[in-house]
Amino acid sequence: MHNTLFLFGATGDLAQRYLFPSLLRLSIDGLLPEDFKVRALALSPHDTEKFREILRPRLEQALPHAGAADIDNLLQRIDYRSVDLRDAESVATAVRDLADRKCVSYLAIPPGLYISTCQGLALGGALAAPNRLMLEKPIGHDSTSAEEILRSIGALIDEDRVFRLDHYLGKAAVQNLIALRFGNTLLEAVWNRNYIESVQILVAESEGVDGRDAYYARSGALRDMVQSHILQLLCLVAMEPPASLESDRIRDEKVKVLRALRPLKAEHAARDSVRGRYTAGTINGHPAQAYQPPEGSDVETFVGVTAHIDNWRWEGVPFHLCTGKRMPERTTRVVVTLKPVTHWLFERPDRQHATPNRLTFQLQPQENIELGLMSSLAGPEWGALELQPLELELSVPTGLHRRIAYERLFLDAFNGNHALFVRDDEVRAAWAWIDSVSAAWKAAELPLQPYPAGTWGPTSATTFLPPGIDQEAQA
Ligand code: BG6
Repeated sequence: MHNTLFLFGATGDLAQRYLFPSLLRLSIDGLLPEDFKVRALALSPHDTEKFREILRPRLEQALPHAGAADIDNLLQRIDYRSVDLRDAESVATAVRDLADRKCVSYLAIPPGLYISTCQGLALGGALAAPNRLMLEKPIGHDSTSAEEILRSIGALIDEDRVFRLDHYLGKAAVQNLIALRFGNTLLEAVWNRNYIESVQILVAESEGVDGRDAYYARSGALRDMVQSHILQLLCLVAMEPPASLESDRIRDEKVKVLRALRPLKAEHAARDSVRGRYTAGTINGHPAQAYQPPEGSDVETFVGVTAHIDNWRWEGVPFHLCTGKRMPERTTRVVVTLKPVTHWLFERPDRQHATPNRLTFQLQPQENIELGLMSSLAGPEWGALELQPLELELSVPTGLHRRIAYERLFLDAFNGNHALFVRDDEVRAAWAWIDSVSAAWKAAELPLQPYPAGTWGPTSATTFLPPGIDQEAQA
């Protein structure tokens, strides 16, 4: 197991809120090697003592049940170096003394700094085999910038030592999609264009852009969420069964889905997509301000877009993808709607009013699976069968211990397991489709639709929202 972590961006929000607390959990559970060391790196001119002082309350807050000794134990393993990421020599100097241990460099920094940082790491010996590199999303902000990053870093370290994160893949509920799909005969039997009418994937957040303006003003919801998390969910729902769970067998199947995505054309932009941005509103009784990007940025905080997968299994099945910030609640769900029954026998309800079978995988905040069936609950006599929708709910036990995404991803990277990381060709294929969407928007001059914070997006977005959501919106 690799035993040294260089954590770049150590004073940033991601590191302080998620990465260090994840390391603390792993440390408490005895899952880190005895001689594990973390070197925290960022621009601020702190020393190690000062950095530990800043981190301690963040750890206490993130894990209120952790004991002081547990926190001390982790802090003792951490030292700090100030570094200028634009200067390769500065990076090399900051890592050189530890580069001959088995080290993993984690870049939780803006992608614009990836290349210079990696050049410094290479100069300092930290990218030589068997060392590894972990890269946060996004890799660039379009195909061209992604290609530059992939090529420049590819010249410094082999692909099999690079671990590109999409933290959704580290979520147990997301991995469960693979288990449910390929561990059950029931689903595979209907999992195709003959039985499935449409698929909806929704990632709704109640949080706003808050505090990430510089990054968000360049990315918007399409690049921030659809390019990564939503397309990864789409891959897991739509991919062919892999021959094994070996990393590359899974990633081979995912990339085939991405390559089969039909580019969005400008003439279909208004029919197949919606962009929105939240205005002032209320969430759970609390006022929420409008999102106002800086001059010159016209990014969206809501996207609805219909994807078509041009392959044998999915031809003609729309995948409605949707994500937005400042929605009434946080929920991530995949809703699979089946086709109507071929020959309808019943008078009540008539064919038009029958509810289609629907399978809902709710992944966040709680995991739970719902199956919507038509059933005769109280048919009094034969001949008078009256059908009603019946929801079968399979709640995943709440007491289940699920590791948070980053814990799992750290362990996998330290152990060299690539299955939950994004391969270079996946990054390219995902950007190719995203570029088609943003080019179509530009050519069609698709307007931004306002929606008040605390609602389910622009009123024109209902096609992209799963059925249950629409009703909740009316409630
Ligand atoms: C990040 C995005 O990748 O995922 C954020 O950059 C978003 O904008 C976050 O809020 C959502 O993650 P989660 O795990 O809270 O659903």
